[in-house]
Amino acid sequence: MSCKRGALIVLEGVDKAGKTTQCKKLVHALQQSGRPAEMMRFPERTTQIGQLISSYLEKKNYLEDHTVHLLFSANRWELVPLMKKKLEQGITLVVDRYAFSGVAFTSAKPDFSLEWCKHPDVGLPKPDLVMFLQLNPSVAAERGEFGTERYENSTFQRAVQQRFEQLMKDPSVNWKVIDAARSIDIVHSDIKVLCENIMNMSENLPIGELWK
Ligand code: TMP
Repeated sequence: MSCKRGALIVLEGVDKAGKTTQCKKLVHALQQSGRPAEMMRFPERTTQIGQLISSYLEKKNYLEDHTVHLLFSANRWELVPLMKKKLEQGITLVVDRYAFSGVAFTSAKPDFSLEWCKHPDVGLPKPDLVMFLQLNPSVAAERGEFGTERYENSTFQRAVQQRFEQLMKDPSVNWKVIDAARSIDIVHSDIKVLCENIMNMSENLPIGELWK
């Protein structure tokens, strides 16, 4: 008998929405309930491509905008064999940012269309569920100062938020919007319920292909 596959679950949102905290809590809760689950994040900064991206984000090097977009995508593609292997082994993957961040961030730059930005990620493993942690920019600002990495400023983040809103109009992706202004625990329990449902629904389905 073939083993039931794990679900591919993505958390997206602008900075300070609590993605990383919620990914960790979700993985912990799933493991506690006896379901194999692991966290991944993009960019995955440990690979050679990831190190290039990391120094770009830390403003230690300059990369042309199209080039860095393609590197972010390549960083996802290089992890695809591992992701597929884990999903097929029945491990649910909880992913902190994915292709949607890729498109939202690059297309927030001048002269980049959403369509151009989506192309390199077409055909990636399609998430069974994408949760968008929604947070008003003024509430985000109350959560403290931005860091010093590239893109960490409110004007750019507002443009990114608009691009996410455009992406969320696409019915081929299973988007769920979560109000991230509430307490960590309340947000977590909403996320957990959505995930339990999707894990049961997707375990017998093949892994889809994004934007195809
Ligand atoms: P993080 O490691 O704190 O999540 O930050 C990664 C930064 O890189 C964040 O500003 C979003 C940005 N980003 C892109 O521009 N393109 C991408 O494909 C991804 C995954 C992230």
